[in-house]
Amino acid sequence: MDHLRGKKILIAITGGIAAYKIPELIRLFVKSGCEVRAAVTENACKFIQPLTLETLTGHPVLRNEFTLIKESQIPHIEATAWCDILIVAPATGNILGKAASGIADDLVSTLIMATSQKPILFAPAMNSRMYLNPIVKRNIAVLKETGHFFIGPEEGEMACGEEGLGRLVLLTCIVEKVKDIFTEKDLHNNTILISAGPTQEPIDPVRYITNRSSGKMGYAIAKAAKRRGGRVILISGPTRLSIPKEGITLIRVKTALEMEREIYEHYPYSDIVIMAAAVADYRTNRPFPHKLKKSDRVFQLELVRNPDILKSLGGKKETQILVGFAAETENFEKNALQKIKDKNLDLIVVNNVNLPDAGFEVDTNRIMLIDRFGKIRRFPLQSKEDAADAILDKIIKLKKKIRPENHNEKNKRT
Ligand SMILES: Cc1cc2nc3c(=O)[nH]c(=O)nc-3n(C[C@H](O)[C@H](O)[C@H](O)COP(=O)(O)O)c2cc1C
Repeated sequence: MDHLRGKKILIAITGGIAAYKIPELIRLFVKSGCEVRAAVTENACKFIQPLTLETLTGHPVLRNEFTLIKESQIPHIEATAWCDILIVAPATGNILGKAASGIADDLVSTLIMATSQKPILFAPAMNSRMYLNPIVKRNIAVLKETGHFFIGPEEGEMACGEEGLGRLVLLTCIVEKVKDIFTEKDLHNNTILISAGPTQEPIDPVRYITNRSSGKMGYAIAKAAKRRGGRVILISGPTRLSIPKEGITLIRVKTALEMEREIYEHYPYSDIVIMAAAVADYRTNRPFPHKLKKSDRVFQLELVRNPDILKSLGGKKETQILVGFAAETENFEKNALQKIKDKNLDLIVVNNVNLPDAGFEVDTNRIMLIDRFGKIRRFPLQSKEDAADAILDKIIKLKKKIRPENHNEKNKRT
């Protein structure tokens, strides 16, 4: 799903030092397929050249409210009718005060006033003593209450050399926030339980058995589900990944038995359960308490079966939609259909792990979805983010079909 492709973004830049970062923000939006236009306050022009903005956006920069644009159009009316969102970045303490008080005495404040039916996102940036001023706090509270969106600021070193809360957030976070704003919240009221990553089965205190799962696919699903308004619980084996999105409950585990315990804990009140983890099939019966010394003899390790978590979830299934993953190298459809039956699944996501651009470790995937009615859909190579949205689209459709009665029912715990 291309959340930003074709979106019209109006970026208003005000007179803060972080204005120098905005050309890069424009590039990120353009790269995501957006059309971008820029507007500036007079003070912003002390920090950034309109020519830079004009070159990057391919549009004249809006600078003066009284200079009509082509065919006698009034800038603040034409631009706000054109855009899908107005982003004020960086937003100075001054512009926040004007917006909260209903002042429209220059182009940017007039754009804000004229954007009454579209989202406005403010990304404040200022010295922390300014940001922590109760008047600024009050203005932000008023704007939030009015329904405007905010992102940041964050803590860190500021341009004035001081440390504190007031830095413009990372530009990628602004892009993420805009994606969130444009995403339909079609998983609202759903609790989504996701497992991801490998498990590690200890042999001795320094060695373990694991597999090549990076966790990227499960994390991408967690992120997309959160963006779509779900309550997300991510149970993750050891990965190098950080929490994919604010608001996700991340529970880190190591072994299959720990993963099983956490999944059982959250399963009863989950609406959608997506088991993307590559749980090790075997573990040592009893890990050695001390580091094993090498010897010249053949070393034999006795392994016992780990529980088949997916199968036992299928056995306990009540109203949950249960989704499994299959990493296959041959007989994809036959094996997957058998797995659906054996484990009482509603949907299976099949990865061909023979291919270098799909499955483990990489950022792309080539998935096939097979539902419990035998319906098959193959997808071309896509990013794991897009694959995550395709999987969630299918789950939502399936849920409407299988459980129309509780598709939008309130979360059972709340
Ligand atoms: C070097 C310098 C840096 C400034 N940086 C910021 C800033 O980061 N955030 C802020 O709110 N104000 C900052 N200001 C103050 C604003 O520029 C000032 O309040 C101005 O009136 C804002 O005008 P505008 O909101 O119309 O662009 C800075 C001023 C100077 C001289």
